[in-house]
Amino acid sequence: MAFELAQRLKVLPPYLFAELDRRKQEKLEQGVDVIDLGVGDPDLPTPQPIVEALQRAAENPDNHKYPSYVGMKAYREAVSQWYKRRFDIDLCPDNEVIALIGSKEGVAHFPLAFVQEGDVVICPDPAYPVYKIGTIFAGGEPYTVPLKAENNFLPDIGSIPQDIVDRAKIIWVNYPNNPTSADATEDFYKDLIKWAKKHNIIIASDNAYSEIYLGDRKPISILQMDGAKDVAIEFHSLSKTYNMTGWRIGMAVGNEELVKGLGKVKTNVDSGQFNAVQEAGITALNMPESELDKLRAIYKERREVMTSALRKLGLEPLESDVTFYIWIKVPEGYSSADFVGRLIDEAGIVCTPGNGFGDAGEGYFRISLTVPTERLVEAAKRIENLKL
Ligand SMILES: Cc1ncc(COP(=O)(O)O)c(C=O)c1O
Repeated sequence: MAFELAQRLKVLPPYLFAELDRRKQEKLEQGVDVIDLGVGDPDLPTPQPIVEALQRAAENPDNHKYPSYVGMKAYREAVSQWYKRRFDIDLCPDNEVIALIGSKEGVAHFPLAFVQEGDVVICPDPAYPVYKIGTIFAGGEPYTVPLKAENNFLPDIGSIPQDIVDRAKIIWVNYPNNPTSADATEDFYKDLIKWAKKHNIIIASDNAYSEIYLGDRKPISILQMDGAKDVAIEFHSLSKTYNMTGWRIGMAVGNEELVKGLGKVKTNVDSGQFNAVQEAGITALNMPESELDKLRAIYKERREVMTSALRKLGLEPLESDVTFYIWIKVPEGYSSADFVGRLIDEAGIVCTPGNGFGDAGEGYFRISLTVPTERLVEAAKRIENLKL
């Protein structure tokens, strides 16, 4: 028997990391001590109070039933209170907050609620691939807008052709940004909101990295801007903030109609997240900031170790105090794939080629700081010994 894949899967961009995986495997088989700086998955464990909250909640038979589609009221209230404390944003837990099974789930499902066949969704490039994929699954057409160094890796919305603007339903933004480690300014968000209102375009903001800041300046939320709630929905996650990538818990907040639309999709495709995970999520959202400061200090130290090694080699990592990623230009004369290939072959270090995040990422590579500090120190040593 032969089963043909649906067109929506056939048209997905090729898996650019396949060749990289093959080379990593080859090195491992040769006995090389490979250091993988490719994946953005925190190495540190989930804080113990969160684990204990799950253990307790799992014992409660009330939690063994189907959860609520939109999330437990107590979880939505905890999200609303967290947004108030962190960003001074008022969110109604009943209408402006929905629980997600990880933010990826919400990002992928959101276009199903608002995109018609043939509508355009404006996606950044380079970017987290799910913006584009969710668009394709919903029958929409992704239009990519490049994030360029000369624009501080912010999209130049003025450069988007009028016919695309006319057909656009959603624009995705993601700051603090994966993969570039750039951050947004208030002015950027204010202009974006004005533009989106003028053209009747939904702003979908992915703020998954808002708590991974290494200095005194805290990243902002688009919802802090006047009038944002008229046009914007924000996706957020407990994954990166609390080392909870495996737990699958996040939230979408903001414009009531947008939250409701996403909720309608979810009601029809999933049955919510396990209540016990949501209870653990409540514990996470109420954790003292001092605990998170310890985590930020670790990422800060790691960033310093790695950026100084890269600079000794003459490379130019982007100056940044947000996210656990470093975005670096490849040396003259190399493509992203060539240089990342050299790092594997000559230093046993796996990094992500920039073009894996979109064409505009060509000429860059990304390092993730989510490995133990001593491994990063070792990686830094190997990088310093490379001859370019
Ligand atoms: C920019 C961005 N958004 C969303 C996610 C998804 O996170 P999660 O589904 O774990 O909440 C990721 C994960 O890497 C990400 O990098």
